[in-house]
Amino acid sequence: MKPPRRLFLSNNNKLSVVILAAGLGTRMKSRRAKVLHELGGLPLITHVVKTAQELDPQTILVVVGHQAEEVEKAVLDAVGELASFAIQAKQRGTGDAVESARKLLENSDSLLVVLSGDVPLIRAETLRKLIAQHREADAACTILSVELQNPTGYGRMVRNDDGSFARIVEHKDASPEQRQIREINSGIYCFEARDLFQALRRVEPANEQGEYYLTDVAEIILSLGGRVSVYLHDDPREVSGINTRAELAEFENLLRRNTIRRLMMETGVTFIDPSHAYIGPEAKIGPDCIIYPDVSIEGKSVIGESCVIRSGARITNSRLGNDVTVKDHSIIVDSEIGSNCSIGPFAHLRMNATLEDKATVGNFVEVKKSRLKRGTKAMHLTYLGDATIGERTNIGAGTITCNYDGKHKHETIIEDDVKIGSDTMLVAPVTVGARSMTAAGSVVTKDVPPDSLVAGVPAEVKKKLK
Ligand code: UD1
Ligand code: CA
Repeated sequence: MKPPRRLFLSNNNKLSVVILAAGLGTRMKSRRAKVLHELGGLPLITHVVKTAQELDPQTILVVVGHQAEEVEKAVLDAVGELASFAIQAKQRGTGDAVESARKLLENSDSLLVVLSGDVPLIRAETLRKLIAQHREADAACTILSVELQNPTGYGRMVRNDDGSFARIVEHKDASPEQRQIREINSGIYCFEARDLFQALRRVEPANEQGEYYLTDVAEIILSLGGRVSVYLHDDPREVSGINTRAELAEFENLLRRNTIRRLMMETGVTFIDPSHAYIGPEAKIGPDCIIYPDVSIEGKSVIGESCVIRSGARITNSRLGNDVTVKDHSIIVDSEIGSNCSIGPFAHLRMNATLEDKATVGNFVEVKKSRLKRGTKAMHLTYLGDATIGERTNIGAGTITCNYDGKHKHETIIEDDVKIGSDTMLVAPVTVGARSMTAAGSVVTKDVPPDSLVAGVPAEVKKKLK
């Protein structure tokens, strides 16, 4: 006959996730809550809630405290309505953190997976194995453990002579003998909700740190006749927590190497120097792209096929078509680039700049909230803001759309096949008709009819071109 296992027989087909994220993280030496520090351009907490979402839980309950509002916002941005929150006003330990979720989960009659907001690389696949073992063992509590070369600082897994689980002892409370143990508690667990909350009532802060330890729950469950099982995982890096900025940088490196390796091996992207490329985990890059050193591709950027991105470029939340060349030191933010375009060097595209196919933006050109239609060129030293520019138009060097009158922004419209002469000031709102020209140095304050040449300050029509 099987020994006693779960204390309450619950319907453990249902699953909820609890994420502990109330702490400040003193060792980060920061005013920002630890879980808001970014890894791969996303807050630590975002990595954890997204992994939790993959388990398809009924709810993801996040225990918040330090900078609760910001943490909640990051969570809501990532998983929306799936999330709920419990506030732990004072951080009195991991047991107390779970206690603050009691009202919301105690009677939920489900399985609870407990995660830490500062363990961002845990994979859903590993959690599924933890849950499978938990169900298989018919346990009240299953602890995910790993063996570490250097277990300093972690809670140690103390086992009985027969190898069965006895208790977890925190590093600070451990005897010299117990500190020799290399198997540590990852801080990731699977519980029967009701068993957990029953045992939690008995946790006392009788330890070195005067905290309520969640880890004590396991021993209490045993003493109440419940079963505790241990899932010994083989990849320590996946469950190591981030406690310092040095660890954060190590993780950043690891994540980046994984992303770049995947792009090289699976997609077919060339990196001239993979150790000096910065590609966010959510960015997509098409096959046969060539990425030079010191390129950053961030956020939800999507790069098409066969693009060349030269050194020092930054592309954030933007889309590029195929065969685009981005020359050195160009910045492209929140923008959309068609195919066969060329950008830079030293160009700045932002706030919904849109380049249609074959458009070109050259040296020291800034494009803000403007559209350049097919085949249009602005090659040198130009500002285009709030402008719509037709097809095959040429914008001469030193052109400026004077879009701001000190109070309001105004639009400039330049139609197809226009030639804007060097150093033209376009005082918006203004329209330049199709096939017209402005002479060098014109200050255009009135609409220019189609097929006209304007010149002067302010610019007047000098002749009709047709
Ligand atoms: C904890 C475990 C330890 C384990 C280690 C693994 C306990 C007592 N110890 O230690 O056995 O080896 O994780 O990484 O659980 N938190 C709150 N409220 C609190 C305290 C903590 O929300 O009052 C949150 C923190 O924000 C963090 C998580 O719980 O996300 C873990 O807390 P932390 O203080 O980092 O625990 P460790 O000392 O690392
Ligand atoms: Ca920790």
